[in-house]
Amino acid sequence: MPDLRPAGILATGSYTPTRVLTNFDLEKMVDTSDEWIRTRTGIVERRIADEETVTSDLAFLAAEAALADAGMAASDLDAIMVATVTPDMFFPCTASLLQHRLGASVAAFDILVGCTGFVYALAVAREMISSHAYNHILVVGAETLSKITDWEDRSTCVLFGDAAGAAIVGPVPEGRGILGYSLGNDGSNADALKIPAGGSGLPASHETVDQRLHYLAMNGPEVFKFAVRAMIDSSEEAVRKAGVQMTDISLVIPHQANLRIVDAAAKRFHLPSDRFVRNGDRYGNTSAATISSFGAGLSWGSLVLRW
Ligand SMILES: CC(C)(COP(=O)(O)OP(=O)(O)OC[C@H]1O[C@@H](n2cnc3c(N)ncnc32)[C@H](O)[C@@H]1OP(=O)(O)O)[C@@H](O)C(=O)NCCC(=O)NCCS
Repeated sequence: MPDLRPAGILATGSYTPTRVLTNFDLEKMVDTSDEWIRTRTGIVERRIADEETVTSDLAFLAAEAALADAGMAASDLDAIMVATVTPDMFFPCTASLLQHRLGASVAAFDILVGCTGFVYALAVAREMISSHAYNHILVVGAETLSKITDWEDRSTCVLFGDAAGAAIVGPVPEGRGILGYSLGNDGSNADALKIPAGGSGLPASHETVDQRLHYLAMNGPEVFKFAVRAMIDSSEEAVRKAGVQMTDISLVIPHQANLRIVDAAAKRFHLPSDRFVRNGDRYGNTSAATISSFGAGLSWGSLVLRW
C-alpha cells in the first residue's frame, strides 16, 4: 500500500445564469421591501435560471470552465461528483447526466448534504486521491434553487439564487492542498430546513401539490441560530485539524446564506474583515454551489486549503 499523498484543488470554474432578479423585482411579487432584504440578509440581487435550464446545464458549463482552467480534457478525469439539492430529477443522479454530456466514461455520483454538499464532496475527493484510488476528480456544486422556491413565501423566496461552481481535485506537492476538514450533521433538527413532500415519507399527490409541500420550507430563526454556531465551531475544528492557527488564515470563503452570519463569524475569528469573501449581495444563497459550512440536515462542514 503506497503512502497517502496530499490532494488539493488544481483548477476551478463557475457559471451563473445571466438573468438578474433584484430586491425591487421581488417587491412586485411578495409583500417585502428592498430595505428589509438588505438589512436582514445583505442580499441585493440574485441570478435565476430560465424555465428550460436545469441543474445539469449549469453544472456542465462550470465543469467545462474548470477543465479549461486545468488544461485538461474530460477523458483525463477518473470520477465525477455533483453536490446538489436540486437534481434534474430524483434519479438518475445529476452526475450521470453530466458524465454523459462531458463524454467522460468514469464513476459518477451525487452528494446530497444540503448547502454543505460541496465541502463534503471535496473531502471525499481528497480521500480518494490521497489513497491513490483516483488521480483527477471533478467536483461540482450546482443548484437551480429557483425551481424549488415557493415564490409566494416571502420568508424564503428572497434568499436563494442559482449557480454552479466546479473544481478539479488532484495530487499536489507536499504541504499543500486540503490540510484538514471538519464535517458534521444533526438530524434532530431535520425539520428546520426541508422539502416536505415528494419522497417516500409523503409521496406526491394532489393534496401535497395543493398544500405547496414540494417547495423548500425553512424555520429561518432556528436555522440562523444554528448557522452562526456551526460556522464558528466547524471552522475552528478544521483549522485545528489542519495544524494551523486562525490568524494564519489569509482568506475565509464562507457560505453566503446571510451576510449577518458572515459578520458574526468574522467578529469571533478576530480576522480583518477584508479576509472574508462576501458576494452574497450579488448572488444570494446558492446552496451547494458555494463553499459552505452549514445547511439542511442540519449539516456543517469546513476545510482548510493551502493554495
Ligand atoms: C430568514 C431570515 C433572513 C429571517 O430573518 P429574521 O430576522 O430571523 O426574521 P424573522 O423570520 O424573525 O421575521 C421577522 C419579521 O419579518 C417578517 N418577514 C419575513 N420575511 C420577510 C420579507 N421577505 N420581507 C418583509 N418581512 C419579512 C416576518 O413575517 C416577521 O414578521 P412578524 O414579526 O410580524 O411576524 C433569517 O432568519 C435567516 O437568514 N435565517 C437563516 C437562513 C439560512 O441560513 N438558510 C439557509 C441555510 S443553508
